[in-house]
Amino acid sequence: MNAEGRGRLDRMPQWQALARHREELGEVHLRELFAADPRRGERYGVRVGDLYLDYSRNLVTDETLRLLRELAEAAGVARLREAMFRGERINTTEDRAVLHTALRAPRDAVVEVDAGDGEGGENVVPAVHAVLDRMSAFAEAVRAGKWAGHTGLPIRSVVNIGIGGSDLGPAMAYEALRAYTDRELDVRFVSNVDGADLHEALQGLDPARTLFVVASKTFTTIETITNATSARDWLLAGLGAGREAVAKHFVALSTNAEAVAEFGIDTTNMFEFWDWVGGRYSYDSAIGLSLMIAIGPDRFREMLDGFRTVDEHFRTAPPEENAPLLLGLLGVWYGGFFGAQSHAVLPYSHYLSKFTAYLQQLDMESNGKSVDRQGEPVSWQTGPVVWGTPGTNGQHAYFQLLHQGTRLIPADLIGFARPVAGLEPALAAQHDLLMANLFAQGQALAFGKTEEEVRAEGVAEEQVPHRTFRGNRPTTTILASELTPSVLGQLVALYEHKVFVQGAVWDIDSFDQWGVELGKVLAKRIEPALTEGAEVEGLDTSTAALVARYRSLRGR
Ligand code: F6P
Repeated sequence: MNAEGRGRLDRMPQWQALARHREELGEVHLRELFAADPRRGERYGVRVGDLYLDYSRNLVTDETLRLLRELAEAAGVARLREAMFRGERINTTEDRAVLHTALRAPRDAVVEVDAGDGEGGENVVPAVHAVLDRMSAFAEAVRAGKWAGHTGLPIRSVVNIGIGGSDLGPAMAYEALRAYTDRELDVRFVSNVDGADLHEALQGLDPARTLFVVASKTFTTIETITNATSARDWLLAGLGAGREAVAKHFVALSTNAEAVAEFGIDTTNMFEFWDWVGGRYSYDSAIGLSLMIAIGPDRFREMLDGFRTVDEHFRTAPPEENAPLLLGLLGVWYGGFFGAQSHAVLPYSHYLSKFTAYLQQLDMESNGKSVDRQGEPVSWQTGPVVWGTPGTNGQHAYFQLLHQGTRLIPADLIGFARPVAGLEPALAAQHDLLMANLFAQGQALAFGKTEEEVRAEGVAEEQVPHRTFRGNRPTTTILASELTPSVLGQLVALYEHKVFVQGAVWDIDSFDQWGVELGKVLAKRIEPALTEGAEVEGLDTSTAALVARYRSLRGR
C-alpha cells in the first residue's frame, strides 16, 4: 500500500479485470463496434468549454470504459487531483506542491500552498495576480513604445532566451496565436546552446531597440545563461555601452533573484514565479511574458480563462463526462493492454506547428518514469513517445505507416470549425479542404478498406493485399470552434490534466525530472576535454575515442 492507500497497479483487481476484458475483446474491429451501436458516433462524445471530443473511434466498449473508470477510482486519481488543487506536496521526490492551476485562479480565489507543518498554508493567489499586474503594465509599456532602451529609442524587438519549459510553452503559444500578435513587434525565441540559434535570431536586429527576456526558473541552466551572456556581449558591443545599459534591455523571469542580480539584471525588472510551478507547466506564469508582450494582457487573460474552464471541468465533471480523465484512461488502456509505444498528436492547424513539440516535454518529461512513487520498478508501461506534426503535411510523410504499418499508434486529431480570424477570404475558403482531410483520415484509420471492397473496384488479385487497409487504428478527434487564446488555454489544460491522470494511475511522480540530470553533469565534465584537452577520469572507451577524434578534427 502506498500513501494513497492503494496497492501496486498490476496487482489491483481492477487492473486484472481489464486484462481479462482485453482477452475477451480479442481482435474486435471498430467496424463491428459501430455496426452494433448505430448511435456510437454521438454517444461517445464529451464537451468541455469550446472543445468537443469524439472518442467513438477508440477500441473500447461501454464495459471497457466502466472498468477504466473503476481503475481510476481505485487508483485514487480523484484523491490525488484534490490534493493537487489543494496545494499538497504531491511532488514527493522534490517535496513540492504542484499548483499551476493557481496561476489561472480568479483574483478572489483562495489557494493555499501546504505549509507542510499541519498549519494552514499561504494563499498564493494575491502574489499570482500581483505578478500578472506587473507583467501587464510592462507588456503595455513595450507594446505602446513607451519602454525605451539605453539610447532612448523604443523597444521594437523581443528575444526570449530560455529552454525546455522556459521556451517551448511561450514559443508554441506565440505561433498558435500569431493572428493575435502585434505585427509591429518582432518576437523571437532562442533556446539551443548551438551558437547558430542566437546568431540567426539576432540577424537584422538593432541593439538599441532590442529587449532580451531571459526565462529560467532556476537561472542556472547552462544553455540559457550561456546564450544570455552572449546576448549581453552583443548588446553592449552594439551599443558601445557599459553594464549600465543592461537594465533597459534585459528582464528576467525566474524564481532565483540572487542569480538574476548576479547576472546584472535589475531585480525590479524580474518577474517572479514559484517552486510550485513546474517548468513544463509554467507558460501561464511569468514565463509567458514574451507571449503577453506579443498578444497583449487582455488576450493573455482570455487564455488563462480558457485554462480555468478546463481546470473546473476536470475538478467537477462526473467521471463519465470528464474529458481529461477519459483521454488519460484511453492512453492507459492502449499502453497497458495493446502494447502501444507511442501516441501521435496531429493538429490540423498550421498555427499549432509547435503544439506537439510542446506536448513532448509536458508528457514525456512528466511520465517518462520507470519507478513508482515508492521507488519500486514498475512492470507496466508508463508514458508513451509523443510525436506528430500538423496535418495535412504528415499525410504525405508518415501516415502510410499509420494506415498500413505493423504498429498500433493511437492518435489525436485536432481541428477547428472556423479558420483563424483575419485570413484573406480566398485562403479562409481552404479551411473546408483542410477539415475534410481530418475527417477523412479518422474514417480511413478506423474503418480501412476491406479486400472485398478493393476487389469490387476491379483491382488485379495480386494487388489486393497491397491496397487493403485493415483499419481499426484508434483516433480521438478534438473539434474546437476556433483557435482563440481561450481555446488554446483549454487545449493545453486538457493535456496537462490528461498527463496528470496517467501519472496518477501509473503511480509515478509526474512532476520531477531527475532523468535529465545525468547528461547535464557529464556534459560539464566532458567540455574541458574538448577545449583544453584536460584528462577526464572515467570516460568509457567509446566516448574517449570520439573526444580524441573531435579534437583531431578541430586541429587541437
Ligand atoms: O532540464 C530540464 C529542465 O529542468 C526542464 O524541466 C525545464 O523546463 C528546463 O530544464 C529549463 O529550466 P529553467 O527554467 O530552470 O532554465
